[in-house]
Amino acid sequence: MKIALISKKGGVGKTTLAVLLHEALKQTGTSVAVRDYDAQGSATKALARINGTREVQGKKVDVLLIDTPPSLTLPATPAAVAVADIVLIPTSPSPMDLWEAEETAAFAKAKNPKAIVRIVLNKTRAGTLLTSGVKTALGNTVPVLPMALGDRQAYQQLLLGGWEMLDTQAAKELLQLTVAVTSLRK
Ligand SMILES: Nc1ncnc2c1ncn2[C@@H]1O[C@H](COP(=O)(O)OP(=O)(O)OP(=O)(O)O)[C@@H](O)[C@H]1O
Ligand SMILES: [Mg+2]
Repeated sequence: MKIALISKKGGVGKTTLAVLLHEALKQTGTSVAVRDYDAQGSATKALARINGTREVQGKKVDVLLIDTPPSLTLPATPAAVAVADIVLIPTSPSPMDLWEAEETAAFAKAKNPKAIVRIVLNKTRAGTLLTSGVKTALGNTVPVLPMALGDRQAYQQLLLGGWEMLDTQAAKELLQLTVAVTSLRK
């Protein structure tokens, strides 16, 4: 399964989510690797720190996570979307960011009608449920993953020290999100 993380907007959590999902999938015994399509190389740097797995040509894994730059026009993003089974679009739950995510979702659907496209709420403060504000901003047409990620220092610390840096709540939330993502294809 190939999962692309894309967004028009920068700093929404693409790389964080790629690395978090990579760590969580490893916990569940799934073979996983990350393809770093972003010239910034943030995913590569994070993976180097935590002994993570980058994609190796010719080596098959259960889940390939593809990190991309914050752009819909750089070639890396449409290339990632074209090969993806699932496209995840992280965004904060604020209306302006949601509208950008909505545009990104339309882009992904147009480039790859077969892909499953989901907006992922990131850095939420009010827990995991979709707030009515999100529903009002987006309407009901754009699919939002039913699990969100909170704004947690533990997720930043994971990039320094791996899975052990997560407290129980953070680990639980991340595993639930991971199940929500992988079950999209079952
Ligand atoms: N759930 C979270 N909790 C706390 N901090 C977070 C969370 N998600 C992302 N961050 C922080 O937000 C910042 C931006 O995240 P990240 O680099 O993953 O975004 P990005 O979409 O990959 O950015 P870019 O578009 O520049 O590649 C980072 O400092 C990261 O640590
Ligand atoms: Mg990034």
